[in-house]
Amino acid sequence: MRIGHALSPDDVVITNGCTEAFTLALSAVARPGDTIAVESPTYFGFLHTLEVLGLKVLELPTDPVEGIHIEAFARLLDAAPVAACLLSSSFSNPLGVSMPDARKRELLALLARHDVPLIEDDVYGDIHFARERPTPFIALDGGANTLYCSSFSKSLAPGYRVGWIAPGKYAQQVVDRKLAFSLCSPVLPQVALADFLASGAYDAHMRRLRRLLEENLRHLTRAIEASFPAETRVSRPAGGFALWVELPRGFDSRALFDAALELGICFAPGDVFSASRRFRNCLRLSAGWSWSERIEEGVRRLGTLARRQHI
Ligand SMILES: Cc1ncc(COP(=O)(O)O)c(C=O)c1O
Repeated sequence: MRIGHALSPDDVVITNGCTEAFTLALSAVARPGDTIAVESPTYFGFLHTLEVLGLKVLELPTDPVEGIHIEAFARLLDAAPVAACLLSSSFSNPLGVSMPDARKRELLALLARHDVPLIEDDVYGDIHFARERPTPFIALDGGANTLYCSSFSKSLAPGYRVGWIAPGKYAQQVVDRKLAFSLCSPVLPQVALADFLASGAYDAHMRRLRRLLEENLRHLTRAIEASFPAETRVSRPAGGFALWVELPRGFDSRALFDAALELGICFAPGDVFSASRRFRNCLRLSAGWSWSERIEEGVRRLGTLARRQHI
């Protein structure tokens, strides 16, 4: 109900994190060899699952503010069949995009016209810095054509592995696959989380977490601006905890990755967010850890390495 769409317990299947949720969704709506449309850049976990399931990837041009380029997607849908569209819908990983509601409605209308289901991954939805969380697609189409996936991994604890899927009209296919792959999810972590939610502490925890992550992102942005090459562009997400950093064309984030690892500094190079290895001049930095002198120094050293490569 909080996301604007009422679900009963029977509408939800508990999964092993959001990863199992979108894996079940993909295997319910697509067969090996089918094509799945994703935003570009996209979460590397999606790409890995698509590869393992033998699915092809259609990378859609994506704007950092408006999201997927709907007109381009419409042309592609006219040209070749697509089995599903898979999106990280709120504060996407890595760009941090949340499509405006009007664009979301346009995308839903386009998908409905072509009878293409939407697999929505909303793991970052509760980590919003503005007053309201983004409206998920499922609340805009009443679940008619959406398989909604999420988890507590980003808001509470990744290690509990408690996620869920609201598969709508694909319920039977998803339940069949859940039974076949793992029967059911472990109950103890669910009981622990249910107990925590019943205590009413989730809201206070989220208020604190949002403030903390917004503050971390502010520190991280400042540190990048102070130490990276002057032409560097940094995303400004209104939620989540990742920054997408774009360096000038020709910059090699893989070479930076190798050099940084020698110093004990790790980040995600841009090309892991693309099946066609685009975005080599980009990188994603995470602000999930509490800000500290040690992290600030790491960003400074990374910036120095980047400037050295850029000269
Ligand atoms: C968009 C997105 N979906 C899913 C996951 C993983 O979720 P879980 O740990 O619940 O499987 C991540 C983790 O980085 C993510 O960024």
